[in-house]
Amino acid sequence: MDRPAISFPSLLYKKSVLIFFAVAFLFAAWVTVVVGPPVSEKPAGVVVDDDEANSTEEESLGLEYERYMREVVKLLESDEEFRKKLESANSSDIKSGAIAQHLNFVSKSIRSKLDELKRNELERLRTVLRLKVRQAHPDSGDRLPPPALHELEKLFGHLDSSNQHSFETKDLVKLIKRTTDDLEDIDRRRREDFKRYEMEKEHLRREEMKGLPTEEREKKEKEHEEMEKKHREHPKVHHPGNEEQLKDVWEEGDGLERDEFNPRTFFYLHDTNSDGFLDPVELEALFQKELDKVYNENATEDDMMERYEEMNRMREHVMKEIDANRDSVISLEEFVNSTQREEFKKDEEWDTLEDERQFTDEELAAFEKDLNERQHASDVTPPTTTLSMQQQQHDDQQQQHVDQQQHVDQQQQQHVDQQQQHVDQQQQHVDQQQHDDQQQQHDDQQQQHVDQQQHVDQQQQQQDQRLHFEPQQQPQHDQPKGVI
Ligand SMILES: *[C@@H]1O[C@H](CO)[C@@H](O)[C@H](O)[C@H]1NC(C)=O
Ligand SMILES: *[C@@H]1O[C@H](CO)[C@@H](O)[C@H](O)[C@H]1NC(C)=O
Ligand SMILES: *[C@@H]1O[C@H](CO)[C@@H](O)[C@H](O)[C@H]1NC(C)=O
Ligand SMILES: *[C@@H]1O[C@H](CO)[C@@H](O)[C@H](O)[C@H]1NC(C)=O
Repeated sequence: MDRPAISFPSLLYKKSVLIFFAVAFLFAAWVTVVVGPPVSEKPAGVVVDDDEANSTEEESLGLEYERYMREVVKLLESDEEFRKKLESANSSDIKSGAIAQHLNFVSKSIRSKLDELKRNELERLRTVLRLKVRQAHPDSGDRLPPPALHELEKLFGHLDSSNQHSFETKDLVKLIKRTTDDLEDIDRRRREDFKRYEMEKEHLRREEMKGLPTEEREKKEKEHEEMEKKHREHPKVHHPGNEEQLKDVWEEGDGLERDEFNPRTFFYLHDTNSDGFLDPVELEALFQKELDKVYNENATEDDMMERYEEMNRMREHVMKEIDANRDSVISLEEFVNSTQREEFKKDEEWDTLEDERQFTDEELAAFEKDLNERQHASDVTPPTTTLSMQQQQHDDQQQQHVDQQQHVDQQQQQHVDQQQQHVDQQQQHVDQQQHDDQQQQHDDQQQQHVDQQQHVDQQQQQQDQRLHFEPQQQPQHDQPKGVI
C-alpha cells in the first residue's frame, strides 16, 4: 500500500508517544486510500472541506490548539541544541514533559518568538471563548454570561495562562502533556464514533421500514437479511500477526517463497520508513489482504466504515500481543519474540466485527431518544441523522468537534452563576463586545470549524486591525471590509 508522505517533524516520529501524531495525521489521506471513494448505495456523503481538500501536508490532527502546537514544535526544532536533546530523549521523558527543562538552553531569539507565539495564542483563545459563550447564549445582548470553569480549562489547558507574557518551561510541559493525552485518546474516540455510526445506520433502517406498507417492508427485511448473509460469506480470516497471516503477506505481497519466511527480513521489509520500528501505519498495511477477504469496495453488502474499524481492531489486537513495553511501536526484538511464541503457530479464525453486536438494545434506545430530543429542540437543523452520518463516515474529526461543541453548550448553560470566578475573562468579553456583530456573521462557519484556527486568526487579525485603525465602529460609515 502506498504511504502518504509524512512531513511532520521527523524527529518526533521516532518516539512512540508521537506515533499517535502519525496515526491521526494520516487519517484523512487514509480514508481515501483504504476506504476508497464512497459507493452510492451506502448511506454516505462526502464532506470535503475546501480548505483541507488538498493540504496533505498539513492534515489536521483535530486538536483545537494544533496550529499553536505545530508552531512551537517548529521553533524548537529550529534550535540545534534542543533538537539534539529531543532526539536523544526517551519516550517517558517526552511523555512526562521532562524534556521541557531544556527550554532554558534555547537561544534568545527563539525564546522571544515563542513568547510572541504564546501571546497570539492567548489572544486567539479569548476570541474563541467569546464566540462560544455568544453561541451558547445568542440572546444575551450586551452582557455575556461567564464561561464555565471546565470550558476554561479545556480551552487554556495547553499553556500556562497565569503568565500572559512569556513562554516558559511550564508552557512546554503543559503543551506536551495535553497533546499526548489528547492523542492517546484517539482510539477510544474512534470506537465511540464507530458505535454511534452503527446505531445511526440501524436507526435509519428502522425508520425507513416504519414508513413502508407491510408487504414492501417484508420484502426489504428479507433483502437486508440476505445482504448480511452475503457479507458474512468470506474466506477464513487469519488472526492478525500469526504465522499464516504474515506468510500470506510474505508470499503474495512480497513475492517471496513461503518456506523461506524469515521474521527479521520480514520486519525490515515492512519497516517502510526504516526507523527501526513497525508503527501503526506499517502494521495496518499488513492487514489489507485479510480485510480484502471481507470487505470489497464494490460490494453493496460491505461497509467501508466497518473495514476501517476492523483494521483498527486488528492493529489494537496486535499491539496488545506484541508491544511488550507499550510504547505503541513494535521493535525488532518484540517482533521476533512474538514469532517464537506458541500462539504464533496457531491458526484460529479471527472474529470480525459482524461476529459481535456493536451495541445493545438499550444503547440504541438511548441513542434514538437523544436524537429525538435534539430534533425537537431545533426545527431549524436539518435532519440530524443524515448530517451526523455523513460526518461520521468521512469526518471523524469534525464529528468530534461538533460533539465537543454540544457538550460545551450544555456546560455553559449550567454555569451561569460562576461570575466571580471569571472576572478577568468577563472583562475581556466586555472590552471586545463592540466587535461581536461582525463575529456573528461568521458564526455558521465557526460552528463547524471551531478548530480551524486559520479562520479564527483571520478574524482576529481583522478585528485587531479595526481595533487599531478604525476605533469608531459605525456601521453606516463603514467602508467595505479589508480596506485598511
Ligand atoms: C489546491 O490545489 C489546486 C490545484 O489542484 C490549487 O490551484 C490550489 O491552490 C490548492 N490549494 C491550496 C490551499 O493549496
Ligand atoms: C529515560 O531517560 C532518563 C534520563 O534522561 C532516565 O532517568 C529514565 O530512567 C529513562 N527512562 C527509560 C524508561 O528508559
Ligand atoms: C471496484 O471497481 C472498480 C471499477 O470497476 C475497479 O477498478 C476496482 O478494482 C474494483 N475493486 C475491487 C476491490 O474489486
Ligand atoms: C524477548 O524474549 C527474551 C527471552 O524470552 C526476553 O528476555 C526479552 O526481554 C524479550 N524482549 C522483549 C523486547 O520483549
